[in-house]
Amino acid sequence: MPEKDLNKIDFYDDEKHFYEDFWKSRQYEHLSEISAIDKLLTGKRFKIAMDFGGGYGRLSEALLKYSDKVILVDPSTKQLDIARKKFIHSQKIDYVLLDRKDYIPAPDNSLDLILMVRVSHHVIDPTQLFKDIYRALQPGGFAIIEVASNAHFINRMKRLAKLKSPSKTPIRVGSVANGITDDTPFVNHNPNTIKNQLIEAGFKYEKKLSVSNLRSSFLKKHLKAQSLAKVEKHLQAPLATISFGPSIFILVKK
Ligand SMILES: C[S@@+](CC[C@H](N)C(=O)[O-])C[C@H]1O[C@@H](n2cnc3c(N)ncnc32)[C@H](O)[C@@H]1O
Repeated sequence: MPEKDLNKIDFYDDEKHFYEDFWKSRQYEHLSEISAIDKLLTGKRFKIAMDFGGGYGRLSEALLKYSDKVILVDPSTKQLDIARKKFIHSQKIDYVLLDRKDYIPAPDNSLDLILMVRVSHHVIDPTQLFKDIYRALQPGGFAIIEVASNAHFINRMKRLAKLKSPSKTPIRVGSVANGITDDTPFVNHNPNTIKNQLIEAGFKYEKKLSVSNLRSSFLKKHLKAQSLAKVEKHLQAPLATISFGPSIFILVKK
């Protein structure tokens, strides 16, 4: 059996994997994430923002509303090529191919904002990455770190039924998730553990939001994504207090 390469990060180049397709049936989740970014960034303005692990730039457009320049970083050539086509008319996006793990390709104190959405589930131990995010941000700069949560409400209830509390350590989820291969790191984290790791890296905790709270196949089948997203907007802050949703957005400041 071939050995797993734990340093491999370009698995989104897999020819059988079409990340864009994953989003075709997830308009509600997409709108929920945009809404969270807006909630966390309204009133702020940045010179240089980085969309780290930004894939084909699904959220880079949302960042452009708040930033003069966006650096889209990803280890997948395929994702960056799709992004280049998508943003062919924009001069405000730079593209950087990431060639190693746990590293922000930018000089010390050079960035104003780093967005990292749906990447933490590919990083089993993010402590080194958080230190590097801290290094690359300028003092007063912000990071938004999205956590695919292993402690969302439904999971907590399931664990409670077995008299267990939520796992503090990452939990491996859906192995061949969305076409990516079996040895792809794919974990859910405990948002409290991630918050503590960010504080240990030097960050000040600012705020968190609970996102995609209404993710349910029943609701998605019977209601329009736009209608669900309207309700979602009002839930993100109150439900954050109990880390309700499957995805938690954490805003921290250097
Ligand atoms: C689920 S996609 C998310 C893309 C984008 N942030 C979004 O929300 O649409 C995960 C992305 O992270 C990239 N990635 C995987 N491992 C990574 C790592 N260790 N560091 C940075 N990016 C990574 C992948 O190439 C992929 O484009």
